[in-house]
Amino acid sequence: SFQSFFASLGFNLPSDEEQVGMEDQIVIKFSHVVAENTPKGLAANRFANLVDEYTNHRVKIEVYPNQSLYSDHEEIDALQKNKVQMIAPTTSKVTNLSKKWLLLDLPYVFPTDAALQEALNGEVGEELLTSLNVTGIEGLAFWSNNYKQMTSNKPIRHPRDLSGKNFRIMPSVVLQSQFQHFGATTSELEFNDTFKSLEINKTDSQENTISNIYSKKLYEVQNYLTISDHGYLGYVVLMNKPFWDKLPPDIRKQIQRAMDDTLKWLWIKSNELNQEQLREIKQKSNIDIYQLSDEEKKKWMNEMTVIYPEFESMIGPDLMRKMEVIRE
Ligand code: LMR
Repeated sequence: SFQSFFASLGFNLPSDEEQVGMEDQIVIKFSHVVAENTPKGLAANRFANLVDEYTNHRVKIEVYPNQSLYSDHEEIDALQKNKVQMIAPTTSKVTNLSKKWLLLDLPYVFPTDAALQEALNGEVGEELLTSLNVTGIEGLAFWSNNYKQMTSNKPIRHPRDLSGKNFRIMPSVVLQSQFQHFGATTSELEFNDTFKSLEINKTDSQENTISNIYSKKLYEVQNYLTISDHGYLGYVVLMNKPFWDKLPPDIRKQIQRAMDDTLKWLWIKSNELNQEQLREIKQKSNIDIYQLSDEEKKKWMNEMTVIYPEFESMIGPDLMRKMEVIRE
């Protein structure tokens, strides 16, 4: 072979397999905003490894965490312009592309994990994903993080405690209304600006999953944490559509396979990680943690769901009905 011939001349050539990989290698840049030790960070790295394995090195996923390439408000635009080929924003951040996605931001919209999985893996999820195609984006999958909790510099035990507080929120009119309805004000801020704004008291409260509160040390600049599970935070994995459509079908198949394996793993991992990091927060800090009882959660749910009708026409009555059936 060429290899042994060149080797006999003293050259050290790569093996057949590596050579094929290098020549035809397809590079996919995957940009995200969170730390690596988070559900999304770990999933992105795992996915990259699986793609490498399943495509026999033909596809290389380059992962850029912590907004090292693009911030929240830049990454969708960068994806559409093919400056990166993959991103995985929180679903709240695509509500500007399609209002249907507001559905997932409704407070207490998923009464159980089973309802959550049924919605995302079924018709509801399918309809949401295809709604993005007209914007030049291919929706590949949903990755879960967890339910959101509230942090503040004053205690939050009842919905009335929200009054007068200023919440950092992601860009979503549902999230805005969820707090404003109870007399709070809201500030739309980038994820990686949240710590600073809480630290200098520009905002005094925020909602997020434990993994984000932990990895960005938000617990250090807040005095109270309420385990409310009042909303869902998950990701939609997106690819530039013209880029995706041009990939050879066998490559698309292997990417999809890596995606399916990653998300199955993540359903379990994301819960574990959030629980583990809550224990870490308890050990590392003096933040006052208040866990809503099931009864209290029901009260919160009854009060917060009053904002649903406001969004019925934006989300679409059809999708709302499908969700109601799942919630029953
Ligand atoms: C946030 O902005 O709080 C989250 O969307 C960050 C993330 O990607 O989990």
